[in-house]
Amino acid sequence: MRLNRKDLLGLKDLTPEEITLILDKAEALKPIVESPVKKVPHLRGKAFVTLFFENSTRTAKSFELAGKYLGGDVINVTASASSVKKGETLKDTAMNLEAMGVDGVVIRHGQGGAPAILAKYLQHASVINAGDGFNEHPTQGLLDMLTIRQNKASFKGLKVAIIGDSKHSRVARSNIWGLTKMGAEVWLAGPSTLLAEGFEGLGVKTTTRIEEALEGADVINTLRLQLERMDRGFFPTAAEYHKFWGLTPNRMKLAPNAIVMHPGPMNRGVEISSFVADAEQNVILPQVANGVAVRMAVTTLLFGGEA
Ligand code: NCD
Repeated sequence: MRLNRKDLLGLKDLTPEEITLILDKAEALKPIVESPVKKVPHLRGKAFVTLFFENSTRTAKSFELAGKYLGGDVINVTASASSVKKGETLKDTAMNLEAMGVDGVVIRHGQGGAPAILAKYLQHASVINAGDGFNEHPTQGLLDMLTIRQNKASFKGLKVAIIGDSKHSRVARSNIWGLTKMGAEVWLAGPSTLLAEGFEGLGVKTTTRIEEALEGADVINTLRLQLERMDRGFFPTAAEYHKFWGLTPNRMKLAPNAIVMHPGPMNRGVEISSFVADAEQNVILPQVANGVAVRMAVTTLLFGGEA
């Protein structure tokens, strides 16, 4: 089965069947990540560019590794080292990359909607959104869902607590779109100034009491304070934030069967205590491994034109 679309811009656009297709593909490709010989020919003869206008460790590197494990050619462009610095528009950058014959572009941009604009200008190359402003981060949402699927029997009826700065989080939005489509019950908890709005129609519940979201949760997804997207004080101090909203061993007692996720980068002692960050309940490094598998799946499906 093929993913019948040119671009992956967000989980808002995907059907439950498409999500399942990608997760199944990622599961099938995952053994390559753990294999002593990491080379298969799925992207042989294909080339893609990663174009990052914002910092990244996990996302950028896992796309690059995914492409290389699949035998493709991967070129990395960071905005600070590109002609964007000389005033070139996104459109011209895109057209020039396409003129070089690339099959795909992976883009991270500070502005929500930038990947959609790029996708419109590119006639042949597929676009994958690697995070746009606080709009979406679909491959993070997918790797989170793959991690959940590996640990829980079904998405249906799962209580997923997303804790922290959902307002400025593209990770939260992709999780909300993806998980609600698959039948999970999503809770957002955080200070009222940092709660994402507008998802009531999807059945998403919000609370300013972290305990209410944690009580009996099956999955806890902890978010970093997105300070780079805050133009004023949304909370008093990091220490006070930790006191009221941090994931601590004491609070974890409310959800003894939950897995703890974090997209990284973690700020230990702020949104998550160092103890919880290292505790057995967490699946933070498995998430990273799943990130490579998910990126292998989406690049194969979109850039490889593979069945
Ligand atoms: C996230 C991002 O950049 O949106 N990180 C990531 O991709 N792993 C979350 C964050 O920066 O807090």
